[in-house]
Amino acid sequence: MVVTGATGGIGRPVAEAFAATGAKVMAVGRDHAKLESLVAGLDGEGHIAVVADLADLETHDRLVDRALDELGGLYVLTNLAAVLRRRDNIDDVTEEDWDNQHDLNLKAAFFLCRSAGRAMVEAGQGGRIVTFTSQSWWTGGFGGAVVYSASKGGVVSMTRGLARAYGPHRITVNSVSPGQAHSNMLMTDLDPEVYEAMKAATPLGYVAEPEEIAGTVVFLASRHAGYITGATINVSGGFLMY
Ligand SMILES: NC(=O)c1ccc[n+]([C@@H]2O[C@H](COP(=O)([O-])OP(=O)(O)OC[C@H]3O[C@@H](n4cnc5c(N)ncnc54)[C@H](O)[C@@H]3O)[C@@H](O)[C@H]2O)c1
Repeated sequence: MVVTGATGGIGRPVAEAFAATGAKVMAVGRDHAKLESLVAGLDGEGHIAVVADLADLETHDRLVDRALDELGGLYVLTNLAAVLRRRDNIDDVTEEDWDNQHDLNLKAAFFLCRSAGRAMVEAGQGGRIVTFTSQSWWTGGFGGAVVYSASKGGVVSMTRGLARAYGPHRITVNSVSPGQAHSNMLMTDLDPEVYEAMKAATPLGYVAEPEEIAGTVVFLASRHAGYITGATINVSGGFLMY
């Protein structure tokens, strides 16, 4: 399986959870040392660390080829890599802010899913693609996250479209929608009052640890979820209820 954003707050426990099931993990990220340390600590053998800037679309086919060659196949892609640039004042949003977030969160997500989907179709064994959206796809986001939220809304629509495209090949495509989970992304530049307000609006009464998101990803990749596709799974402690 391939996990992007693997050294991030949620990516790390996702990689660990898959390795614990016996999967061989290709951990994709930007920091070589962090990736090597992650892979060295995973259960089992045969995991690999790959440095890539996913905003560069030319990396995608190379990643998929390496997964086929070095893992022996590609059945699961979980795409977590994303960026959030908070701009409390909407008038401070620049075109570069827009492009930076949409290029990775939505555009690269599409092309990476397509590279992986193509390989899964060719292999003819079905597959699992798990994208990452956010509660912000629904709420519009908090703490200066309008542009990010728009990219995450796109991820939901994209996931549904890919589910239709790949369904006939028994490849499921679903999205995980965290509410709030402690990570660099959540906490960087976040106004403490916004943090407290989000916590207060969460019936479970606390902000998740990233490990609490990972199990849903493993479930979606498992045979137990074989008849779920095009879904957006809300993992928000009740912050959203749908
Ligand atoms: N933490 C939350 O509260 C929360 C809430 C909703 C959704 N999410 C989503 O969950 C996913 C994981 O987020 P997280 O909280 O672990 O964030 P994080 O910032 O800890 O991890 C994001 C990862 O993406 C990687 N990345 C960034 N730019 C990249 C690029 N150009 N190429 C390759 N990798 C790149 C980073 O290196 C990092 O490892 C994201 O898709 C995020 O939008 C998180």
